Amino acid sequence: MRDLLSIADLDRAQIEALLDGAEHMADVLGRDIPKVPALRGKTVVSLFYEDSTRTRLSFETAAKRLGADTMTFTLGTSSVKKGESLLDTARTIEAMGVDAMVVRHSAAGAPHRVAGWVDAAVVNAGDGRHEHPTQALLDAFTLRRHRGPGLDGARIAIVGDVRNSRVARSGIACWHRLGAQVTLVGPPTLMPERLDGWPVAVSHDLDDVLTELDVVYVLRVQQERLGQALLPSLREYYARYGVTTARSERMKPDALVMHPGPMIRGPEIATEVVDGGRSLIREQVANGVAVRMAVLWDLIGSGGRLV
Ligand code: NCD
Repeated sequence: MRDLLSIADLDRAQIEALLDGAEHMADVLGRDIPKVPALRGKTVVSLFYEDSTRTRLSFETAAKRLGADTMTFTLGTSSVKKGESLLDTARTIEAMGVDAMVVRHSAAGAPHRVAGWVDAAVVNAGDGRHEHPTQALLDAFTLRRHRGPGLDGARIAIVGDVRNSRVARSGIACWHRLGAQVTLVGPPTLMPERLDGWPVAVSHDLDDVLTELDVVYVLRVQQERLGQALLPSLREYYARYGVTTARSERMKPDALVMHPGPMIRGPEIATEVVDGGRSLIREQVANGVAVRMAVLWDLIGSGGRLV
C-alpha cells in the first residue's frame, strides 16, 4: 500500500491483513511499556484543515507508540490564514522531511490531491462527505473482536445523517466487503440523493428493523454540513431515531451499539446506552490507536518484523 485514501482501494484480503496487523499492535499496547521502535527515525505529520479530537490524537498516539516523531499542523494557527494554498502547504511540510501525512479536509478529494503532489505516504483522515477509511477499519476491528473473524451475516444499521457522513460511506464499503448486511436508517432528507449501486437496504423506521439488528451504529446529525433545513424538527428526529433506553431494551440480547464520536448524549443516544453493556464506544476509541499503528506500519514500516 502506498497511500490509504479510500476503502475502495482495498480488497477483503488487504482489509483482513490490516486487521490482523492491528491485533499485533493491540498486543504491544497491552504491554507494561506500550511502545516499540518500529518507526524510529520516521516522521508523521498530521495536516488537519478541519476540527478533530479523536482522529488526530489517535494517529499521533499511534505514531508515537511505534517510535516515530510527530508534527501537527492545525488550520487556526497556520499560514493558510495568510493565503497559502494546500499545494504550497503540503510541499512546505514535505520539505522538512516527512514520511507520512495524515490529511483531513472539508473538501472531498483533498487527500488524493496531496498524494499526487508529495512523495510521502498519505492517509485520508476524513475528506468532506466522502471517506474516512481508518474509522471503518477500526470499527471492523472492534466488531471482529466481538464476533469472530469475518462480519459474515452481521446485520448492521447505520442510523441518522448518512447523507453528510464520510464515516458511513467508508463503513458501508468496508463492512460489506467483510460480509455484513448494511441497512441505512433515517429520514429521507438525511439519505444520500442517489443510492444506485450501493450494497445497502434502506429503512425510514428504526422501530421496524430494530429487533433484527446485530449492530446499531449511531451517527451525529452534522449540523455544520446540513446547509439548509433538511430537518424541520430535531426533537421529532430524535423521537424517531434516537437510541433510547426503551429501544435498547427491545434489541436482541447480544446486539451492540457503536458511535464514531463526537456524540451528543441525551437526544441522539441515551447516556444509559452509552455507558451500558451493549456499548462499544470506548473500545472503538482504544482500538483506533492499534488500527492506525497497523496502517502506518504498512505504509512506512520497513516491511520487516515488528519488534
Ligand atoms: C466523524 C468525522 O469527523 O468524520 N468523527 C470521527 O472522525 N470519529 C464524525 C462526525 O463528525 O460526526
